[in-house]
Amino acid sequence: MTTPDGHRGGPVGFPAADPFPTGAFPIPSALSHAVTGARYWLPPQPAPAVATAPAPHPAAFDVEAVRRDFPQLHREVNGHPLVWLDNGATTLKPRQVTEAVGEHYARETSNVHRGAHTLAKQATEVYEEGREEAAKLLGTRDTGEVVFVRGATEAVNLVAQSWGRANLGVGDEILVSVAEHHSNLVPWQLIAGERRARVVPIPLLPDGQLDQDAYRDLLTNRTKLVALTHASNTLGTVPPVAEMTALAHRWGARVLVDGAQAVCHFPVDVTELDADFYAFSGHKVFAPTGIGVLFGKREVLEAMPPWQGGGNMIDTVGFGGTSYAPLPHRLEAGTGHIAGVAGLRAALRYLAGLDREAATGYEEQLTAYATRALSTVPGIRLLGTAPGKIGVLTFLLAGADPVDLAGRLDRQGVAVRAGHHCAQPALAAYGVTSAVRASLAVYNTAREVDVLVGALQEAAGA
Ligand code: ALA
Repeated sequence: MTTPDGHRGGPVGFPAADPFPTGAFPIPSALSHAVTGARYWLPPQPAPAVATAPAPHPAAFDVEAVRRDFPQLHREVNGHPLVWLDNGATTLKPRQVTEAVGEHYARETSNVHRGAHTLAKQATEVYEEGREEAAKLLGTRDTGEVVFVRGATEAVNLVAQSWGRANLGVGDEILVSVAEHHSNLVPWQLIAGERRARVVPIPLLPDGQLDQDAYRDLLTNRTKLVALTHASNTLGTVPPVAEMTALAHRWGARVLVDGAQAVCHFPVDVTELDADFYAFSGHKVFAPTGIGVLFGKREVLEAMPPWQGGGNMIDTVGFGGTSYAPLPHRLEAGTGHIAGVAGLRAALRYLAGLDREAATGYEEQLTAYATRALSTVPGIRLLGTAPGKIGVLTFLLAGADPVDLAGRLDRQGVAVRAGHHCAQPALAAYGVTSAVRASLAVYNTAREVDVLVGALQEAAGA
């Protein structure tokens, strides 16, 4: 049996052939003996990350071909080949994206929607094609529902400041899961403070799942909005968003889904989810920083007052009154990140060009592999073990400060994040304030996981 990327050996010694009866990936025998004195594997893995995803066919996925598109994967850091396991913070960019951004600035610089000249028309075409790609990614046909923003953070702030100010009143409640990134919590606290509404936490179960019994009990006719991650940046949890949305709708509440960590890992369909709002950041799906998308149902966006005023978002302007442009421009004041959209267009075309079924299957298997391999490190504690989680592996190593440990890994070329991960309530649920996070993407390999695990073994003194 081979590992997800066909790897049959490595720094920590995977056996060339392995007869694991469970069909699990081979665990390095050196590691397994360290833990149990015998071969060790976790019980069969639970359902795949997306319950609706077809069975994975990782053999059909050519990870080496994908890796060739990402120049940064082929550089060294601190004298070692880079092992990029900080994908939750940002993904690397394929050359198709950097070329698209370079091409815009080098040959096609122009503003959009305003000019009568050729380059303005070309830039506008690229910009609107970027919007079409985002609409396709999210599963809507209506590009008026796709608003360009700086990133998921700005998307949530837009909804909080526009929809929230118009729709929240004294005593209203916003349910926010404890797994949320600060960007899907603090904007709600800000607007709740202003409107004298309340932010109410949806608690976690010990494995990082959202407590569905508690959620059902929290929903009342005071609930006006539910803020949910589609994949937790710290615990990897993928909540049952469609079911939770259906429940919220029964109480007349709107649902905002933070898809920042989801879109690059599995296919998303806002129509199936029935989400009222869905947010993502370009830079977490191979695109540049500073560009992101807010999806909103047309009827919800239509009813929202403009958020920022300025050029692009108006129809007619006079001192006697101003009328506004149709969607989505009404919510896009000022010049947008045009080169960013050129990069986003390239990134989403790149993603669409991958076999998503095979890519998702590959990531699921790599996640299972990494989970098992990490579990063999003496003194390791994994935070978040929910069934179907994405490849986000947050952990503590007994006796090691997370920031020091990340520094130690960096010296070996391994990039991980350490600290509170912008999700302090999620860590607090586990009684900790800081942890290390290795986050996987479709271009990572079992060989890279081996390097991480080998370095952790060393740090653990195994
Ligand atoms: N939200 C990003 C992360 O989780 C920055 O690391």
